[in-house]
Amino acid sequence: MERITGARTRRTVLAGASVLALATALAACGGGSTEPAAGGGSAAAGGGGGDTITVGFSQVGAESGWRAANTKSIQDTLTEENGFQLSFSDAQQKQENQIQALRSYIAQGVDVIAFSPVVETGWDAVLEEAKAAEIPVVLTDRAVDTADESLYVSFIGSDFVLEGERAGTWVSETLGTEPINVVELQGTTGSAPANDRKSGFESAIADNPNVTVVASQTGNFTRSEGRTVMEGFLQSQDDIDVVYAHNDDMGLGAIEAIEAAGLVPGEDIKIVTIDAVKDGMQALADGKISYIVECNPLLGPDLAEIIKSVVAGEEVEKRIVVEDQEFDQEAAIEALPTREY
Ligand code: AHR
Repeated sequence: MERITGARTRRTVLAGASVLALATALAACGGGSTEPAAGGGSAAAGGGGGDTITVGFSQVGAESGWRAANTKSIQDTLTEENGFQLSFSDAQQKQENQIQALRSYIAQGVDVIAFSPVVETGWDAVLEEAKAAEIPVVLTDRAVDTADESLYVSFIGSDFVLEGERAGTWVSETLGTEPINVVELQGTTGSAPANDRKSGFESAIADNPNVTVVASQTGNFTRSEGRTVMEGFLQSQDDIDVVYAHNDDMGLGAIEAIEAAGLVPGEDIKIVTIDAVKDGMQALADGKISYIVECNPLLGPDLAEIIKSVVAGEEVEKRIVVEDQEFDQEAAIEALPTREY
């Protein structure tokens, strides 16, 4: 893996291979300082000296194509062959399940806990327990909202605000040259990507009076709920020009609802999504989705490096931002044959 390289940001790239660029996000998590691994991460605690590193990983669930790719990346990387013993649990999108899993990892005395928090708030108590047990915690994909950043050692994941801004900028600049009504399919209520993609989009359209968000509701990041919510929007709204979906799966659900209503996605109603998983990219190539902002799920290799550093007692970046791309139809057609997820 290419290790921390400093800020390498690429604002708009419409084609080419995905790269996980590790960049210190100076603004994101209280500055870009590195800090020594907290808790019991020492060479003696695991693979720092070549021994197996025990890792407890609590995943959000299996709600989307993105999540499936993320799980695969983690499970394919944190293998015995690579020096890890992984305990993996699926929280089925429930915070109480994740808290239970984290407590179980604390009781087991794993070397490192990693997790992708289903929602942003409500983690301080269990993270305090991990800290008291001297087990370092690495956040992947999603952030927690805590006043005490010493409760985790590192957070790797995309900049969700930027993703929302990119989607909003495209809508504003490409479609907002005349008055348009937007409906928004939000991700899981209280989750970092739902909060941030909403606020990023809103800030990007704020100065364009042509763009109005006429309805906004959660579809919980799933295809089925995206379809159900879109069916409701089609009944309650007279005039929908654009769907902004916080992920591909909800956008794909919206396509089903739009087609079932006898309308043509991409023509009668434009759809903009976030993720760029294969199904979404295929819909973009087919002209049913009009634009996708990527959220790269392949976090496993970088997570493995972070965990090894933590266990070895090395300094790790507090915030590692994954670099994402953007795709229009032409770029999707070009990228699809070699798309990994
Ligand atoms: O946290 C990342 C988001 O979670 C992805 O965009 C979405 O598809 C997933 O459910």
